Amino acid sequence: MSEQKNTQDNDLITRLALIVGVMGGLFGGLILKGARRKATWTWGRINAWFFYSMTVTFFVLAHNLNIPFFIDSLSWIFPKGLGEWVYFNVPRGMQFTVLVVIPFLGWLGAIGAAVSLRVRKYQVGLDHLGLRTSSNLKPVVIDSFRVGEHQKRLLVRAIGIDINDFKNRKGALESAFNAIVEDIRVLENDRQFIEILLSEKSLPTLVGYDEMVTKHLAAPYTFLVGQSLGEFIVGNLLELHHMIVAGSTGGGKSFFFKQALMGIAESSKHIQFYLIDLKRGVEVKIFERLDNVRIAKEAHEAIAILTAVVDEMDKRFKFLEEKGLTEIVPDRDKMDRIVVGIDEASVLFTIEKSSRSSKAAAQSARDLTDRIAKLGRAAAIHLILATQKVVKETIDTRVQTNINARMVFRVNTVASSMTVLGNKMAAELPEIKGRGIWSVGSKDIVVQVPRLSPEEANDRVDDLLEKFNGTGKCQFGPMLLDLDEVQPKKNIFETHSDKKVQVVNDKVNAS
Ligand SMILES: Nc1ncnc2c1ncn2[C@@H]1O[C@H](COP(=O)(O)OP(=O)(O)O)[C@@H](O)[C@H]1O
Ligand SMILES: [Mg+2]
Repeated sequence: MSEQKNTQDNDLITRLALIVGVMGGLFGGLILKGARRKATWTWGRINAWFFYSMTVTFFVLAHNLNIPFFIDSLSWIFPKGLGEWVYFNVPRGMQFTVLVVIPFLGWLGAIGAAVSLRVRKYQVGLDHLGLRTSSNLKPVVIDSFRVGEHQKRLLVRAIGIDINDFKNRKGALESAFNAIVEDIRVLENDRQFIEILLSEKSLPTLVGYDEMVTKHLAAPYTFLVGQSLGEFIVGNLLELHHMIVAGSTGGGKSFFFKQALMGIAESSKHIQFYLIDLKRGVEVKIFERLDNVRIAKEAHEAIAILTAVVDEMDKRFKFLEEKGLTEIVPDRDKMDRIVVGIDEASVLFTIEKSSRSSKAAAQSARDLTDRIAKLGRAAAIHLILATQKVVKETIDTRVQTNINARMVFRVNTVASSMTVLGNKMAAELPEIKGRGIWSVGSKDIVVQVPRLSPEEANDRVDDLLEKFNGTGKCQFGPMLLDLDEVQPKKNIFETHSDKKVQVVNDKVNAS
């Protein structure tokens, strides 16, 4: 009898071992996948398994519990007599294996299978792109997570593949995944992984300034950047210090420039604006009525403004040196924060080769701007440059390296996108006004910039008059200069086109 029992036991052990073995073999990959996934191991799950296995152990070892009766009472699930048979014929250790180890492995395998299924379409998509390291390793999609209502985060192991290879294939990725790629970045704590933020929803094509201002502008020296798929992004002058706004004509540079200035004016006190707009000041004319704003419309005025700001900067550095301080704190030092804003900066910086004097003017504008970009930070002086192109010829590389915040609207060529962003994203933007890429540090985020209409802007300046022009003026110091007093030196700043006009006029007069 006992011998028969032994052979039965051995039989069963062999069969169970076979089951575990086959499971391991067939599903080993999936089990490993489930087990290696960080998200599998939540505290709740570990606890659940722990208590379950403890309970099973208790039942298995408790001889005086009437397990056969218990199992047989579940006759609608198990055949009658099975409980008894298991209880008397299967060794304890084996009972534990059946009740705990196999379900546990099954559970891990199921998770692994679910993950594999979930990321399969992304893996196939990535494979289509053919990204490889030089040693022919391909990126592997490890997992996908739902974040927010319409977004997914893909975790990709991409050992030895440059993140810009991904960024440059943004368009291809979007069509491969059938989703919008909102952001691609290296995982901060493990640089072998990259995260791709996908969105099933597209951005709105129009965002209003009014509604966003009341919701998002609270802190001083902040301005609206735009609606991304995740959140609404607000820029902070204190963190960014300087900013470049770039993109082809008609993308929304000047609108962004104006709404950013408006945001700063609305959120801040103790601030002075020096604006340069060589298109006769049309873009920033709305700010003209404010006492803490100066607008340069001509090249000589621009030079006067930049010179005055640099002089002020030098004064502030002397002050810091005398007091043994490292940076100006406007409230403490009773000095206003200064914003220098230049729209169409390339017009100011482009050297007119035919005219020696305008060449000199452009050069000094560059040098002055360069000093502000390099040293302005500690002196509470900020620079906002809007320009069509960011290339050596228009904006000095010296200036570029000191400005890491960029708002880039659509550009026409991949090459321009590469120069401004280091990837193709700006060339792949849809042709939607106000759609751009907000780039700070290593993050490039697609946003829809709020639109501030000229009428709205006018109303808002009305509201600012009290703050900046009223009796309780909120500036610490006087403005650095009055432009009425700045006289152009004769002929020194004449531009190439002025000269052409002159020639034409002369011809007309002569005939
Ligand atoms: N954020 C925006 N939302 C909607 N439309 C915009 C936005 N920004 C600009 N536009 C539209 O695009 C046009 C061109 O914008 P603008 O800022 O003058 O371009 P740029 O200075 O780059 O040449 C504007 O007249 C405006 O109608
Ligand atoms: Mg413009």
